[in-house]
Amino acid sequence: MITKNIQLAVQELREDNIIAIPTETVYGLAGNAFSESAIHKIFEFKKRPLHNPLIVHIQSIDYLTKVAKDIPDKAYQLANAFWPGPLTLVLNKKENIPNIVSAHKNTVAVRVPNHPMALALLANLDFPIAAPSANPFGSISPTSAMHVANYFENELAIILDGGECEKGIESTIVGFDGDEPVLYRLGSISLDDIEKEIGELKLITKNDINPAAPGMLSKHYAPKTKMYFTNNVHELIQKFTNNQIGLLLFEKKLDYKNITHQEILSVTSNLNEAAKNLYAAMHRLDHSNLDIIVAERLPDVGLGKTINDKLERASKNE
Ligand code: TXA
Ligand code: MG
Repeated sequence: MITKNIQLAVQELREDNIIAIPTETVYGLAGNAFSESAIHKIFEFKKRPLHNPLIVHIQSIDYLTKVAKDIPDKAYQLANAFWPGPLTLVLNKKENIPNIVSAHKNTVAVRVPNHPMALALLANLDFPIAAPSANPFGSISPTSAMHVANYFENELAIILDGGECEKGIESTIVGFDGDEPVLYRLGSISLDDIEKEIGELKLITKNDINPAAPGMLSKHYAPKTKMYFTNNVHELIQKFTNNQIGLLLFEKKLDYKNITHQEILSVTSNLNEAAKNLYAAMHRLDHSNLDIIVAERLPDVGLGKTINDKLERASKNE
């Protein structure tokens, strides 16, 4: 059921059930972070491998010490600058976080979401909420209640409808190597904005074999339709003249009369707007019976870096 009733959602979570909730980034599949049985349900429901840990959502920075310890100064600096908001911090975890949440790591990923409904839920609960994105593992993340319903129509008791997600792309994840900050996942807050707060971050590169955050490397955020990602859309299109093609473009349509499915991410060339529209555009293209989707590389600055990272992953073959 799609609903705006927060009390119903509170009740389900108290009974160890899982529901979909809105956040400012993407919709989450939520359960009591202190309950092993709720967390098991999340992993089963999403068909998510148990080695891929979840993000724990808390109501405010004051709650941080209830779930994490040995918190570096730079973590507080970032939390003060960006919470509530799309920043996730990976910190040493306290015992009350079940091992299944953190995939048996000694760290936990935490954030304060910036969505009035998510915050209202947390204010009514005496436990934090664990929530991965509300999509089957590896597929495009949902940025509206309808996207969630399309994936899990009759399987969820409640999809809490908080409208379209304001940011549209997952949180940026920062962890620590000792006191040194490390970027685990590009997201809604640009790398530049993080570095303005705390100086340079260590990056986990694509060549790292054993990534701390699986989201950094594998095929992810992928449509069912085969997708190509390119600097040169015109050249690529020539190779597929007999196919139904859909285009995912930054700022303007291309003059191909036979290509009717063209999604523009921001007519004003605004990267924040492009991020907000990205997944919804991918969902629409994926539901348009196309043979292939061709996505254009965006300017590699600010959130353009994040968007390009997501598109690259979505177009990987495996
Ligand atoms: O914006 C978001 O972060 C959304 C909303 C719902 O909050 N959530 C989200 O969750 O994107 P999910 O499960 O799709 O991605 C969580 C990411 C994964 O890449 C996971 O590997 C990483 O967080 N992660 C979680 N705990 C970690 C830990 N202890 N160490 C390193 N990475 C961790
Ligand atoms: Mg996800």
